[in-house]
Amino acid sequence: MPFSFPMVHFILFVFLASTVFHLQRRLTKIQPAWELEEQDQSYSTETLSGFQPKGIWTVNVQGRLGNQMGEYATLYALAKMNGRPAYISAQMHNTLAPIFKITLPVLHDNVANKIHWKNYHLNDWMEEKYRHIQGEYVRLTGYPCSWTFYHHLHKEILQEFTLHDHVREEAQKFLWGLRVNGTQPSTYVGVHVRRGDYVHVMPKVWKGVVADRRYLQQALDWFRARYNSPVFVVTSNGMQWCRENINASLGDVVFAGNGLEGSPAKDFALLTQCNHTIMTIGTFGIWAAYLAGGQTIYLANYTLPNSPFLKVFKPEAAFLPEWLGIEADLSPLLKN
Ligand SMILES: *[C@@H]1O[C@H](CO)[C@@H](O)[C@H](O)[C@H]1NC(C)=O
Ligand SMILES: *[C@@H]1O[C@H](CO)[C@@H](O)[C@H](O)[C@H]1NC(C)=O
Ligand SMILES: *[C@@H]1O[C@H](CO)[C@@H](O)[C@H](O)[C@H]1NC(C)=O
Ligand SMILES: *[C@@H]1O[C@H](CO)[C@@H](O)[C@H](O)[C@H]1NC(C)=O
Repeated sequence: MPFSFPMVHFILFVFLASTVFHLQRRLTKIQPAWELEEQDQSYSTETLSGFQPKGIWTVNVQGRLGNQMGEYATLYALAKMNGRPAYISAQMHNTLAPIFKITLPVLHDNVANKIHWKNYHLNDWMEEKYRHIQGEYVRLTGYPCSWTFYHHLHKEILQEFTLHDHVREEAQKFLWGLRVNGTQPSTYVGVHVRRGDYVHVMPKVWKGVVADRRYLQQALDWFRARYNSPVFVVTSNGMQWCRENINASLGDVVFAGNGLEGSPAKDFALLTQCNHTIMTIGTFGIWAAYLAGGQTIYLANYTLPNSPFLKVFKPEAAFLPEWLGIEADLSPLLKN
């Protein structure tokens, strides 16, 4: 015990020295935001005179792509709000860096394992107290994804989640090749149909439903009524169900992507390169919609009012106010 503590400091010193360049770049970038946030004024003044914020903040790695994007964006925003430097784990870097031009530095496992972290649990919505989290070595935990954490930094978050050129170009090439009745469409609507484990988890664990064919029909028709010959680019981890339940007879539906949960880059890129989004449930669709911008239709109220899901999920913190919800049909749950 007596020896381990100085050792940690030594390792941290070496580590931090190697990232000083990066930190300085970050500091110049995040300075104005601290002022905008009306954070502690003395802190801003100290920063101006060359003071560096102390400590290391990080976030746990839970779930797959959509969850990890939420964790990344929340760490990015809360660390900035609290004036702390943010680092991600190598594991999160391995998920996000092959797809996006993310900039947060990596904290290597051999350093992270020697730090005595203060775990700080987050609900999936912003709370006032998160503006004043104490501690130099904080690991945020939970499944944060809500826009309420980071939407004030919208531009920076879009920058962080900019696709690598080759990923974007592959998606663009696919979209440009699509034709509706022989002509190139001018409006692309990404459709993400989350199935897989959710098909069982929603009714069994959460007293909820996944999107059904009626929802998708309504959502597609909403766009058909408002745009001239839009094309619908469907991605799903249950493509067979989509082929059987999405009416493609108008020739404006393309079943695309590969649905591979282990390598989601291709599907995700297709969705973000579309102009608008139809999502069903899950953070993958939420992030695709957030990055695509444009108009978004989501499945609303897809659990019973007494679902335990509503203790960890606030719809108003998950869906942007301007997104359009279509009420789910809960009758299959009531039958049982
Ligand atoms: C699919 O859509 C077409 C065109 O709107 C319609 O004529 C047809 O009845 C629909 N098929 C099914 C199975 O709903
Ligand atoms: C494509 O052409 C067919 C046949 O003329 C027509 O029924 C259909 O509505 C057209 N689809 C779209 C999306 O315009
Ligand atoms: C719609 O998306 C396509 C494909 O990414 C893009 O080329 C086009 O510029 C977008 N249209 C608008 C109005 O943003
Ligand atoms: C979901 O339910 C709430 C509460 O009953 C209601 O206010 C809201 O309008 C519903 N959302 C949609 C999109 O219908």
